Amino acid sequence: MATMRAAVYTTFSGPIIVQEVPKPTAPVGGLLLRVKACGVCRSDYHGWKGLDSDIVTHGLPFTPGHELSGVVVKLGLGTTKFQVGDRVAVPFILSCGSCRQCARNRPTICEAQGQPGFTMPGGFAEFVAVPRADRNVSLMPPKVSFLQAAALGCRLTTAYRAVMQQGRLQSGETVGVFGCGGLGLSAVMIALAAGDNVRVLAVDTSEEACNKAWDLHAFNAKEGDEYIRARVAEVTGGFGADLTLDTAGFAATCENAVWCTRRGGRMVQVGLPLHGKEPCIPMARVANQEIEIIGSHGLAATDMPVLLAMVAAGRLMPEKLVQREVTLEEGAKAIEAMDTGSPLGITMITRFKGAKEGDEPNEPPAKMPRVA
Ligand SMILES: NC(=O)c1ccc[n+]([C@@H]2O[C@H](COP(=O)([O-])OP(=O)(O)OC[C@H]3O[C@@H](n4cnc5c(N)ncnc54)[C@H](O)[C@@H]3O)[C@@H](O)[C@H]2O)c1
Ligand SMILES: [Zn+2]
Ligand SMILES: [Zn+2]
Repeated sequence: MATMRAAVYTTFSGPIIVQEVPKPTAPVGGLLLRVKACGVCRSDYHGWKGLDSDIVTHGLPFTPGHELSGVVVKLGLGTTKFQVGDRVAVPFILSCGSCRQCARNRPTICEAQGQPGFTMPGGFAEFVAVPRADRNVSLMPPKVSFLQAAALGCRLTTAYRAVMQQGRLQSGETVGVFGCGGLGLSAVMIALAAGDNVRVLAVDTSEEACNKAWDLHAFNAKEGDEYIRARVAEVTGGFGADLTLDTAGFAATCENAVWCTRRGGRMVQVGLPLHGKEPCIPMARVANQEIEIIGSHGLAATDMPVLLAMVAAGRLMPEKLVQREVTLEEGAKAIEAMDTGSPLGITMITRFKGAKEGDEPNEPPAKMPRVA
């Protein structure tokens, strides 16, 4: 039986070990990919802690990883849009196309969504099986690298939906980003790239993260909640931000985001407060001041080409979010390390083979665009 290297945990919160496991086959209607890059997201940490119901339902052992790009090595039966050798970007939500939400054009809340790294083994491996490919997977433009495309698999596309679609950012507005890890920095990047005359207020407990947020207004949340709320009030003339986002998923980031939203403003919940204290929301303020609280989950796969085109045109630079390129073993350790904090920016696995074998260079010469 053919095998491959993959990072596996056999107990929740237990060691994540790189080992040989059976190589998957191409699923019906899907693709078998050689994984070229896979990010380490805090949602992988939630899963490893046993806090993701899909992984609990799937059962252990499990291979995480949902922020990935790769090369098609085999086509499943019935897959029509791809060829072996295609470079592809994979969104973490693989919608079904036939449930009530898909019928309402709400694929991000598909009732039967597949998610590599949650409902099925993920991209912390040399190969990954991706079903529902024709509907969900995108070809990468030749100019886009695997590292850039992988960042679109989760946090950059999620940030785009949160800021632009659910958050409805308008030119001239002030946006407060609470938590500037991988997702928060992606939101800062999107807001600065997409919005005309947009002012970004970046909040994080890490001085390094504040510095990486590229903005004049970065506030260190180590100073406490009152300090953050006072500073946001101070720089917004006492009104608060037009749009706020909890991009970290902690009680403090959620609560501060709501408290820092202006009358009639919008607060978008993107971080998943699955760990630690449950947020306590001042609902009277939400009612009296007509503050909208809006959820946001991933991005529709049909919007992925828009983001890929922005990257190809140099309008978005996901590579600037990637702080570390690591091996499969180091990626596994990076999940475990989230027990005690967050990495700076995005940590991306780009080396999947063992030290002896070595990986081939990650960027093969760009293919000529295919004639459809
Ligand atoms: N809704 C979605 O579709 C979606 C998609 C991707 C990630 N997520 C969730 O988004 C969250 C962020 O993911 P990530 O990978 O960017 O995480 P991360 O660990 O990289 O970032 C978290 C950031 O929050 C900062 N932080 C911690 N406490 C803080 C506080 N009190 N005030 C301000 N900042 C604080 C940390 O220093 C860090 O920079 C997670 O909950 C993840 O599960 C949701
Ligand atoms: Zn993620
Ligand atoms: Zn569906």
